[in-house]
Amino acid sequence: MVGIRLPPEDPELSSQQSRGAVCDLVSDDERSVAADSWSIKSDYGSTLDDDQRQTDASEALSAANYRAPSDYSSDKEEADAEEAAQSMLGLQSYWDSAYADELVNFREHGHAGEVWFGADVMEVVASWTKGLCIDISQGCMLNHVDDIKSEPVEGDKSLCTRSVLDIGTGNGLLLQELAKQGFSDLTGTDYSEGAIQLARSLADRDGFPNINFLVDDILESKLERQFQLVMDKGTLDAIGLHPDGPIKRMMYWDSISRLVAPGGLLVITSCNSTKNELMQEVESFNQRRIGGSQDRETPRDQEIGRDPPFQFLSYVRSYPTFMFGGSEGSCVTTLAFLRS
Ligand SMILES: C[S@@+](CC[C@H](N)C(=O)[O-])C[C@H]1O[C@@H](n2cnc3c(N)ncnc32)[C@H](O)[C@@H]1O
Repeated sequence: MVGIRLPPEDPELSSQQSRGAVCDLVSDDERSVAADSWSIKSDYGSTLDDDQRQTDASEALSAANYRAPSDYSSDKEEADAEEAAQSMLGLQSYWDSAYADELVNFREHGHAGEVWFGADVMEVVASWTKGLCIDISQGCMLNHVDDIKSEPVEGDKSLCTRSVLDIGTGNGLLLQELAKQGFSDLTGTDYSEGAIQLARSLADRDGFPNINFLVDDILESKLERQFQLVMDKGTLDAIGLHPDGPIKRMMYWDSISRLVAPGGLLVITSCNSTKNELMQEVESFNQRRIGGSQDRETPRDQEIGRDPPFQFLSYVRSYPTFMFGGSEGSCVTTLAFLRS
């Protein structure tokens, strides 16, 4: 169930339908539901008709060595094919080719391309993040976090001064959404040059010329600046699908911890990891960091290193949930962590 395009639909309904479709696909466990939910992407303004869409989907799937499950004689072959197709999404060549197509579609038809997890999720992420930033600037969220001091700042004003980085920005629409919410210091990065060209063109067309876009690989980031808010929607998911996913995920956390300013926020939206899995991953990173600090040279460095880099702050509760195996889960999860 990788990257399957949903049938053409009323864009208003698309993300609801998408989520519905995915939530119906309760299979072996929560992880397989999450993997299936890579199909939650809406075709935002596509002009493709049904036949073209079918052809498009078949080409995409055969490129990923995917065949319909009925063609398979064994579950193992099916699982192997699914895994192979998924791991395509971890490769830069996949994204370069996807954005080359989307750029053509933009130039010929003016379309924005995929909104990963759907427009509804994107809007929820942006407005929830705004609320969280306002709460923090007003000192409402930090009662349990002793070492972060924040001066109360009046409501929306604090948003303008908060620098924002969206990693793996794709078409950059999340940044446009954050701009509509009042954020103004906005930067998007992606390792695919095509994504950056698309994001730049869309931002200019849609009246957001001040959003900065840069080509940058988060795993070898050249960014020298730190940001008070770092957003990730679907990028860690993609990185985790690389054949060397586990190592790359560790590199990701090292890099992210350098990019989020002290007292800043990381807001991460995933469909391949559950809330608990992400929290455990961050906890493992914290422990690794604290363990590593014992080797540092000066007592001051050792002291700084004893603080866990990230503390869980909050998560989006408003996504639709479903029951499976006696526990309740959601297809998409958004969590916020505070950088110490
Ligand atoms: C699932 S898409 C999500 C795009 C966008 N965040 C959104 O929500 O629409 C994953 C994005 O991550 C980018 N990406 C994957 N690995 C990356 C890396 N190591 N550094 C920077 N970008 C990366 C891909 O090019 C792609 O644009």
